[in-house]
Amino acid sequence: MSPTQSTTTNNQYDRKSELQSFDESKLGVKGLIDSGLSKVPRMFVNDLDHNCPDHEPNNAKPNTEFTIPTIDLEGIESDPEKLNNVVKEIGDACVNWGFFQVVNHGIPQDIVDDVIDGVRRFHEDDVEVKKQHYTRDVHGKKFFYFSNYYLYTGPVANWRDTITAFMAPDPPQPEELPLVCRDIMFEYSKRVTKLCHTLFELISGALGLSPNHLNDMDCAEHLMLLGHYYPPCPEPDVAIGFGKHADNDVLTVLIQDQVGGLQVWHQDQLVDVPHIPGALVINTGDLLQLITNDKIKSVYHRVKSTNVGSRTSVAAFFKPQPTNTRDYGPIKELLSEENPPIYREITINEYLGHYFSKGQDGSPALEYFKM
Ligand code: OGA
Ligand code: NI
Repeated sequence: MSPTQSTTTNNQYDRKSELQSFDESKLGVKGLIDSGLSKVPRMFVNDLDHNCPDHEPNNAKPNTEFTIPTIDLEGIESDPEKLNNVVKEIGDACVNWGFFQVVNHGIPQDIVDDVIDGVRRFHEDDVEVKKQHYTRDVHGKKFFYFSNYYLYTGPVANWRDTITAFMAPDPPQPEELPLVCRDIMFEYSKRVTKLCHTLFELISGALGLSPNHLNDMDCAEHLMLLGHYYPPCPEPDVAIGFGKHADNDVLTVLIQDQVGGLQVWHQDQLVDVPHIPGALVINTGDLLQLITNDKIKSVYHRVKSTNVGSRTSVAAFFKPQPTNTRDYGPIKELLSEENPPIYREITINEYLGHYFSKGQDGSPALEYFKM
């Protein structure tokens, strides 16, 4: 056996037990930091020979010439001219970026702040309380906590812990959510769903469809809230907060706290998404790309780790519910002889099955459904 082979075998063995003991601790990345750790364990090191060509180093220089669009929603309900302008701005942002921020979006600042605080309270709560929710056996559960969805299958572990809550269409019983974030998760879900309906009306308009088109296709039927916690990282150039991925939904509404660190790929370059006080980050997911026949793209993004403190974010994922029996393919009204369908019709369940089995390998999940 050559020295390289023996190293690989050794690493693979070590890696598996390292992953397992991390998972069995049920303490997440936060637990590692609380234990006083000063170096990033091997399983998080973003230089493994992991067959994943798309992991840029954490410290890759972003392009500072591009600025992601910020759209002001003030007055769109009462002023038809403002509404027209915003429809155009949102259309341009969706087509050219797949990412934008919105201000004056109608969700009061104290609710935005509270949901971030609630998620942080959970992640900083007593370990015994958190452990009760830690599981990978998520079948039938409306709320759970773990670190790294792709812990065992992904190329490299991410420096992040996550809570997941399925808020619609069948909301959890109140007692299924932890007390420290219970009320605010219900309240925020209501507000963010209203905003999503508005955004779908604007995007429908920008596509030349009737305002209700995307909502009538059940695009906001299912709401999953993810509450991410990125503990301070002792070696931020070594571990990544959230590796490169595209979202498996129609639309994501994200709150990132003041730490920032979100980056998107735009024209093959990395661009920072700055924290703007009061703004929400909106991005289009794979399913919007599918139904708009590639007019609107689902854009790759990632989160850098940081050593300036912990970072909290709340992502609201909207899509038809996985059990929705409709077929989803390119919207007929958007097709023509010059623009024939690129994708076949699929169910949400079929799409999600492929997305998760493919894993976070940096390749587009939609390729598989091309005609
Ligand atoms: C996600 C995501 C970004 C963040 O949940 O898909 O990209 O800032 N989150 O946590
Ligand atoms: Ni994402």
